[in-house]
Amino acid sequence: MPKITFIDHSGEARIVAASVGETLMEAGVKADIPELDAECGGACACGTCHVYVEEAFLDKVGFAGEAEQQMLDYAESPVQENSRLSCQIVVQDELDGMTVRTPAAR
Ligand code: FES
Repeated sequence: MPKITFIDHSGEARIVAASVGETLMEAGVKADIPELDAECGGACACGTCHVYVEEAFLDKVGFAGEAEQQMLDYAESPVQENSRLSCQIVVQDELDGMTVRTPAAR
């Protein structure tokens, strides 16, 4: 199982063992990551699953598509070049060891 580290805005790190095929949001919610509200349940319609992907893994997860980018525009947290909605990232073995940061809870 790929291990993903979530770091919250205060710097506290939590390592989550994710299942291949689930979304990063699903893995984070199951592990009770506190700053991952995921209010729309993964429909790319709320922006509350916003994460910042570490630079070294951007080529593996890719950048946000057009619909995702539009939703990020409504995110209450600052959007950066490495911003992604975690419900749009499917966990793969190659994401093992990735770190994502979550913005402060809205
Ligand atoms: Fe709502 Fe990801 S869970 S946009």
